Amino acid sequence: MLQDNRESISKKIGMDFEVVRIGIRDASKPRSLPASMFTQDLQSIVDDPNIDVVLELMGGVDPAGGLVEKALLNNKHVVTANKELIAKHGSRLVHLAKSRGLDLHFEAAVGGGIPLIQPLKHQLAGNSVLKMMGILNGTTNYILTQMQQEGSEFDVALAEAQAKGYAEADPTNDVDGFDTSYKVAILASIAFGRQVPMDGVYREGIRSITKLDIKYADLLGYCIKLLGIVEPTAPDRILARVHPTLIPKAHPLASVLGVYNALWLHGNFVGDVMFSGRGAGSDPTASAVVGDFIDVGRNILGGGAGSAIPYDSGMLTSPISDLKTSYYLRIHVQDRPKVLGVIATEFGNYDVSLAAMEMKTLDAGRGEIVFLTHPVREQSFRDSLVALQNSGTVETVCNWFRVEDSQ
Ligand SMILES: NC(=O)c1ccc[n+]([C@@H]2O[C@H](COP(=O)([O-])OP(=O)(O)OC[C@H]3O[C@@H](n4cnc5c(N)ncnc54)[C@H](OP(=O)(O)O)[C@@H]3O)[C@@H](O)[C@H]2O)c1
Repeated sequence: MLQDNRESISKKIGMDFEVVRIGIRDASKPRSLPASMFTQDLQSIVDDPNIDVVLELMGGVDPAGGLVEKALLNNKHVVTANKELIAKHGSRLVHLAKSRGLDLHFEAAVGGGIPLIQPLKHQLAGNSVLKMMGILNGTTNYILTQMQQEGSEFDVALAEAQAKGYAEADPTNDVDGFDTSYKVAILASIAFGRQVPMDGVYREGIRSITKLDIKYADLLGYCIKLLGIVEPTAPDRILARVHPTLIPKAHPLASVLGVYNALWLHGNFVGDVMFSGRGAGSDPTASAVVGDFIDVGRNILGGGAGSAIPYDSGMLTSPISDLKTSYYLRIHVQDRPKVLGVIATEFGNYDVSLAAMEMKTLDAGRGEIVFLTHPVREQSFRDSLVALQNSGTVETVCNWFRVEDSQ
């Protein structure tokens, strides 16, 4: 992108630039640029006094974190796409940049090519964010879209995503929700002004979702998405969570399909806003990185003191047991009289009230029931499941998911 759009990028910055050197790990890989541009000595880049801006696009905390820190200590502006590094060490690194009058930008770390960080830092900054919900991982959204549209089971949809290059050979980071949790932590840190500790982000992945659950959700008017959700729970506290979620088919996030990503948020003055687009891939990511680079160039030219906006560490987070929401539950029961009465009594004992139900006979003597509850505290819902299992009526609690009805 820096090569193809060089002229227009220079024009937008107001000065020319030069790509001095590119750090790599594997010297034997074929490259599309002259070999003289590449080095395996990354330290030489962050120590070079002729370099003004370092773009860190390696990933991981080590050695990327040390190199970013060294670049800042050597008075270089930094642009990074590294979600893990910023989620874990953003506060410290942004403070370091600010204290030295430098920029540290990381637009590409969340949502690939979709502008999210800059709008949160600037155009939306006057709002109190009352809720954010995002589809922040293209791999999982592709898998869930395939399960929804083709009726595939998780393993089949994952294998297809891997064959198409949308999922890594080891898909853990995506399907178990780690990638989304880093992005949730970064968005929440920017929106609420303090770094969210990673152990404060509740996380579940999508492996447990079956095509049957997707079918039942559809019958009830919902689809299932892996959402990152953040909301304030007290003036100085948030609840940040990543898990499969039923959302109404009419919700704008429900129409975000395939590898596309989106962030929906509700601000107290702006109301509902949604950003969507390509959340991964080299071109959209380059778009965000180069946008940050242009910003840095303009700041350098303007003699600015760095536009990094520091945030402190130590955001307080609420546990998932404090969540109050609706639930989807699928159970197997023994098909005999008074079963529903027993279930209703157990639910009632824990303040769980029912909003909808679907029933099906499985085979002689067994039935499948799906419930949607009204909003209830998560701890009460979990306690009611234990009571149901101990009631002698419920054979198996097959699956349960949280439901978001906010539009
Ligand atoms: N790919 C996306 O869609 C996307 C989207 C948003 C954000 N990001 C972020 O962008 C970063 C890079 O992701 P990617 O998918 O582009 O990864 P990638 O394809 O593996 O590229 C990483 C690059 O960094 C180099 N590198 C990695 N570790 C190195 C080391 N220890 N020493 C020297 N060079 C090293 C690699 O060198 P070689 O070429 O020699 O292997 C490669 O050129 C990550 O932080 C990721 O989270 C990626």
